[in-house]
Amino acid sequence: MILVTGGAGYIGSHMCRLLRERGLPHIAYDNLSKGHVESLPGTPLVCGDLHDTDLLTDVLLAHQVRAVVHFAASIEVGESVADPLAYAQNNIGGTISLLQAMRRAEVRDLVFSSTAAVYGNPDTTPIPEDHPKRPSSPYGFTKHAVETLIESSEAAYGLRAIRLRYFNASGASPEGDLGEAHNPETHLIPIVLQAALGQRESVAIFGSDYPTPDGTCVRDYVHVADLAEAHLLALDALTRGVTGAFNLGTGTGYSVREVIETCRQVTGHPIPCREAARRPGDPATLVASDTRAREILGWIPTRSDLEQLVADAWRWHQAHPMGYVAQEPVEAPGPAMRRSEINALKRSAAACFEAHGWTLPPDPKWDVTDFGLGDWRREGLVLVNLAEEPEYCEKLMYAQRGMVTPAHHHRRKKEDIVCRWGRLAIRCHAAGGGAVALRRNGSQTVVEPDQPFVLEAGERVTLVPGVVHAFWPESDECIIGEVSTQNDDVNDNVFEDPRIGRFPGILEDVV
Ligand SMILES: NC(=O)c1ccc[n+]([C@@H]2O[C@H](COP(=O)([O-])OP(=O)(O)OC[C@H]3O[C@@H](n4cnc5c(N)ncnc54)[C@H](O)[C@@H]3O)[C@@H](O)[C@H]2O)c1
Repeated sequence: MILVTGGAGYIGSHMCRLLRERGLPHIAYDNLSKGHVESLPGTPLVCGDLHDTDLLTDVLLAHQVRAVVHFAASIEVGESVADPLAYAQNNIGGTISLLQAMRRAEVRDLVFSSTAAVYGNPDTTPIPEDHPKRPSSPYGFTKHAVETLIESSEAAYGLRAIRLRYFNASGASPEGDLGEAHNPETHLIPIVLQAALGQRESVAIFGSDYPTPDGTCVRDYVHVADLAEAHLLALDALTRGVTGAFNLGTGTGYSVREVIETCRQVTGHPIPCREAARRPGDPATLVASDTRAREILGWIPTRSDLEQLVADAWRWHQAHPMGYVAQEPVEAPGPAMRRSEINALKRSAAACFEAHGWTLPPDPKWDVTDFGLGDWRREGLVLVNLAEEPEYCEKLMYAQRGMVTPAHHHRRKKEDIVCRWGRLAIRCHAAGGGAVALRRNGSQTVVEPDQPFVLEAGERVTLVPGVVHAFWPESDECIIGEVSTQNDDVNDNVFEDPRIGRFPGILEDVV
């Protein structure tokens, strides 16, 4: 089993796709601060933070993880200049927590996402791996610091690690269903393609007086699918005793103007540009010496030709002009339709209450959520009582149309389900589909995925954090009960979910 931290992010999701295609068991670990669950169809996801060492340890042990591919990080150079401590906290602190969890669980193999930013302004180009490291941004500094920590952990604890220094990751899946959706977007190719889509008026060229052939910065663009392939080769190389740092680039650089020109050719759009001042810390040229990765890992990039790479990215951006958000089906119904659906759900829930002789909690304040992945109308709905949020979020589970997957749940440390009234029949499974351990009335029980467990009023179960991937009501017809989740995280994903914001006005309208 391979654990992919940051698996819901841009590069991590391509890695998970490749692991799925090769039939290699894996699991993604991501706090979804920047990632997209929609980018992981078919990959089990544990929603957790790098800083949660206990949860990471549980996941590593429960899934018998043998190697970790560590993508999770904060990645924006500009943001890191504005808030260097937050970057150090997430990138260095988060990795320390991961390394501690790996020690505890005795997981030895690690592939780490590093960056060309560790080199700073290079003395020579193409840049070899042993070039001095002089990062010119706090982001680059965090990556260099982590590389150093990893090296000392190799010496001290027997860790075996490969550090991959990516140059400019770009492109999208050749199938057009996975691509770059950063927010904010600061990478050149997506920005240029957003201009081609009419989402930006023009593209700023930061600096046109660099010592390069056309005066603009030169970078080495490498296709994200090729990057994913390199990680697979690195995992394999670790088992042969290979460790160390490897550049992942093509050895060929393109200037900003050349990239824009290629985008014009691929899209057929004029793409207006404007010249702007240099950005501090931007080196003139960053091109990788790729010999080591080719010779030792056997890596041969096959999709990183600039035109190919832009064509793949363009396919993704055309099909997903709003990134992954556009795929969320809540966009589909108009407001009137949503309102009538919600009202129908309310009426149906009320009828069910009446039929069972149950009464609603006093002063309910309701919202509606799909609680997770996919099509909320197809998969079912959950009425959420917001009255006691944020300390408690009480959820009245009312499944009308089938499975509800509150996939975000395992993010929390304490996961209690209390049946306050009514009767709650629930099924659950671990990430990967296996059985789940839960504590019920003081003793531990193992529940198989196809075996429902029923809670009577007043009963409580505790789900083992990090192991439960999803739980959902047993019946696809009409289940009512109340889930009381003790929440130690005020920023519960459920209430951060941008989709909730798209139901304006329903609070006064529901129940
Ligand atoms: N995109 C590039 O061009 C590029 C270049 C060089 C290196 N890298 C490195 O590659 C890695 C992946 O980059 P990306 O472009 O896919 O970024 P991304 O932002 O798309 O993905 C990072 C993922 O990590 C998750 N994450 C962040 N902090 C976390 C935490 N504390 N706990 C759990 N999950 C957390 C985010 O939710 C996100 O899904 C990063 O380490 C980055 O530094 C990227």
